[in-house]
Amino acid sequence: MVADHPLSVETLAVKGTSPHYDEGSAVQPIYQTSTFLFQGEVGYENVRYTRCNNGPNHMALSAHIAALENTEAAMVASSGMAAISTALLAFLQAGDHLLMQNTCYGGTYDFVTKNLPAWKISHSLIDASQPNTWKAALKPSTKIIYVESLCNPSSDVPDLQAVVSFAKANSLMSFIDNTFASPVLCRPADLGFDIVLESATKYMGGHSDLIAGSYAGSKRNVQKVSI
Ligand SMILES: Cc1ncc(COP(=O)(O)O)c(C=O)c1O
Repeated sequence: MVADHPLSVETLAVKGTSPHYDEGSAVQPIYQTSTFLFQGEVGYENVRYTRCNNGPNHMALSAHIAALENTEAAMVASSGMAAISTALLAFLQAGDHLLMQNTCYGGTYDFVTKNLPAWKISHSLIDASQPNTWKAALKPSTKIIYVESLCNPSSDVPDLQAVVSFAKANSLMSFIDNTFASPVLCRPADLGFDIVLESATKYMGGHSDLIAGSYAGSKRNVQKVSI
């Protein structure tokens, strides 16, 4: 567990973490601006610019998601696939290899099996319910193990604790797509996962009226994906 929030996940989901906004509005106003005035910020990452996900709406939503995921930090993206592809690209480079659960969501499966090879990033598919078979797929260049807490569409559930232990034992980063479970059913960071991904288009949004994604983890890891 990284952060400690006294509120239950149900209360957090409804109230969020920053209930007080400008002029006392109950709901945060939407800031329709690309650019913010310079207010003496130091460092590029502190200069507020909407593409950098650091406007007031982004910051409030990110804090809300970090509270739900029980992580130090989180960031939003324009879709689940934007979050997943950006996070993978932030931690992988040419020559690297990853292990991916063989029943992952089709968009992720295609990205890993069809797009990443163009950047010389290779993969092996693993049966996430058979931890004793993972070692055979490991290579010296393996950097990440990637699973879904509840697969789309098969609803396979990996041995999550075994994934985290395997990652730690082999110096891998553990990535998990938590879309179908949502933080209400599963908080993978509490189990030790490094990066928690969501297609917020689904249960996080909850009303089929938005497309969004998120990634959550330590401040250091989230910053690495964001900058
Ligand atoms: C498990 C899972 N991950 C990722 C995605 C991609 O999310 P988005 O459609 O928001 O890009 C989906 C979409 O169905 C999904 O079910």
